[in-house]
Amino acid sequence: MTQLIAAHGGELVNRELAANEREQALKEAASLKVLEVNDWEVSDIELIGIGGFSPLTGFMGKEDYENVVRQTRLADGTVWSIPITLSVTKEEADKYPIGETIALKGADGMIYATLNVEEKFEANKEEEAKNVYGTTDKEHPGVKKLFDRGDIYIGGPITLLNRPSHGEFEKFYMDPAETRQMFKDLGWKTIVGFQTRNPVHRAHEHIQKTALEAVDGLLLNPLVGETKSDDIPADVRMESYQVILDNYYVDERVRLVIYPAAMRYAGPKEAILHAIVRKNFGCTHFIVGRDHAGVGDYYGTYDAQRFIEQFEDELGMTIFKFEHAFYCTVCENMASAKTCPHDKENHVHLSGTKVRELLRNGERPPKEFSRPEVADVLIKGMKQV
Ligand code: ADX
Repeated sequence: MTQLIAAHGGELVNRELAANEREQALKEAASLKVLEVNDWEVSDIELIGIGGFSPLTGFMGKEDYENVVRQTRLADGTVWSIPITLSVTKEEADKYPIGETIALKGADGMIYATLNVEEKFEANKEEEAKNVYGTTDKEHPGVKKLFDRGDIYIGGPITLLNRPSHGEFEKFYMDPAETRQMFKDLGWKTIVGFQTRNPVHRAHEHIQKTALEAVDGLLLNPLVGETKSDDIPADVRMESYQVILDNYYVDERVRLVIYPAAMRYAGPKEAILHAIVRKNFGCTHFIVGRDHAGVGDYYGTYDAQRFIEQFEDELGMTIFKFEHAFYCTVCENMASAKTCPHDKENHVHLSGTKVRELLRNGERPPKEFSRPEVADVLIKGMKQV
């Protein structure tokens, strides 16, 4: 019998009601006060509800919030790196008294969950920005979002009543209980999780396959929630993942499942969140490469690796840390500074801006950078935007 890794904090959380209980709760929710939540918050609600954010059972209260921001831990000491909070403006906060159960409704009119209002407290945005994102610069996309939100956080447990639709990605959607069952069925004991918000280029493929040599299976787990506007849209990326898997991966060794979360661009802190969620999905290993979850020049190339290393034992996962990978024309191989002795001029390196320019002009980046099948999907995708 395959023994799977325990969820973070011990037990996989399930905050979802089923069948009659759900019907009853939905009926009751119709008469509750309604708080409208945005898509980012809906994705947090879903991840709490299905256990992706285990051990969280709701939006954080003050003690958890402060501990996470200051110590990278929940109030009980469990490692946690990013506040998961529900924000309202000061005026709105008065509408939702402590002790009341409220309905959380998406912009589409769907009641996704109910929440027991246990706490209301003021966010310390300066401190949150500095400690979570490493900067208070509002040019940083995560910091901007933070400062654009309401100042009051409402904390309390949630009950998930409806999961959001994932539209065309639905067939790649699985909850943590389902991925865990799938790993059991596949007989995989060791599984490496891969987070990405980009198409899989040769460097990604190289580090995934290098990791795969050491474990039973790869969970390719692209983030498909909110990203910044110049990232490649999720539908184009999903198509690119399918073509690369079809052409270059061994079917029995890889599964493509979406990670329906918003991207925070919080570098080292987000690397920990990314690892925790993949552990909840059943992964025993997780890849952190260069500038994981980074944006602009806010983080050093290996900051995320150094940071997560301190928590590796407590996380109970193995973190595969990869050096910056590139194609070397002398080695005629993918390589890194660890494995290639040749000068930089021999390394195929393209900036994101350069790649976008090529694709927009309908040109494939060199095959040493991107598989032609992937390039073609991206060129087609670029024409649609
Ligand atoms: S991320 O924001 O999701 O981290 P991206 O999709 O680019 O962005 O990266 C996915 C994973 O691959 C991250 O762990 C990142 O560090 C790693 N990575 C991306 N490019 C390289 C590269 N050239 N060399 C090594 N690791 C890389």
